[in-house]
Amino acid sequence: MFAATLQEEIPLLGGDVTDGVVRVGDTVRRPTRSSTRSVHALLRHLEAVGFDGAPRVVGLDDLGREILTYVDGDSAARPLPAYAVTGESLAALATLLRRFHDASASFVPPPHAVWEAGSNDDAAPELIGHCDITLDNVIFRDGTPSALIDFDMARPTTRLFDVVTTLRHWGPIADPVDLEPLQRSLEIGPRLRLFCDAYGLAPRDRRRLLDLARLRFDRSYHAMRAKAVTVGGGWARMWAGGAGERIRRACAWLENNQDELHAHLI
Ligand SMILES: Nc1ncnc2c1ncn2[C@@H]1O[C@H](COP(=O)(O)OP(=O)(O)O)[C@@H](O)[C@H]1O
Ligand SMILES: [Mg+2]
Repeated sequence: MFAATLQEEIPLLGGDVTDGVVRVGDTVRRPTRSSTRSVHALLRHLEAVGFDGAPRVVGLDDLGREILTYVDGDSAARPLPAYAVTGESLAALATLLRRFHDASASFVPPPHAVWEAGSNDDAAPELIGHCDITLDNVIFRDGTPSALIDFDMARPTTRLFDVVTTLRHWGPIADPVDLEPLQRSLEIGPRLRLFCDAYGLAPRDRRRLLDLARLRFDRSYHAMRAKAVTVGGGWARMWAGGAGERIRRACAWLENNQDELHAHLI
């Protein structure tokens, strides 16, 4: 048994939406949700097939929280460290995502699996994607992305949709007014190309990437607005903090730059 009450609980404040994430020794405790059982089945599958870039499931504690292993390393907190914006780390993130996808592709979800709702591709799902690879949800070790955390948004999707979500945050595909100082000098077109090359993205997916990014912006805007109202909490805080306007600006920036960016992808 884990003696949760005897060990110090250290709040982990880096995330966006989940209240009550704490570190206890070598573990993380997080509130459960309706998708937790399905996410645990996914994480157990990743462990079984030898994917080392995700937390392991330990179980549930006596307060009903999920227990995951604490992944050693650093998440790229603001202000961003220089190593988080290099081409090397972008390429390493692409190979990490590819390894995750290849491991996830053989996962057969349990009957009646429940996944978090969110925006998605219209194409038929190919696997369970992470669907939330933000700056906070990547753990770096020695300056290199080495693990994904926070699988709350995992759901059936396409490889391309997960690539698009990752590039929204890590390209990043954003209006320059919303960028961190270190990101402002980045050349986005070549970075999209670098990521797709390192991932080994199929040519037909590269051709569809930016159209799907625009579709995703529109769908994410509505999905986030709905969650801000129906779920509240961190979603409402993000919305009140301008998340919707940032999506709108990013989409307009993409529309203005799509042809130039697309030329790097084909
Ligand atoms: N398994 C883990 N290993 C290491 N750090 C973690 C782990 N889970 C969460 N964290 C830390 O706590 C922060 C918030 O947790 P996260 O699960 O991402 O919550 P949120 O849903 O709010 O984004 C993360 O950004 C990270 O810094
Ligand atoms: Mg998070």
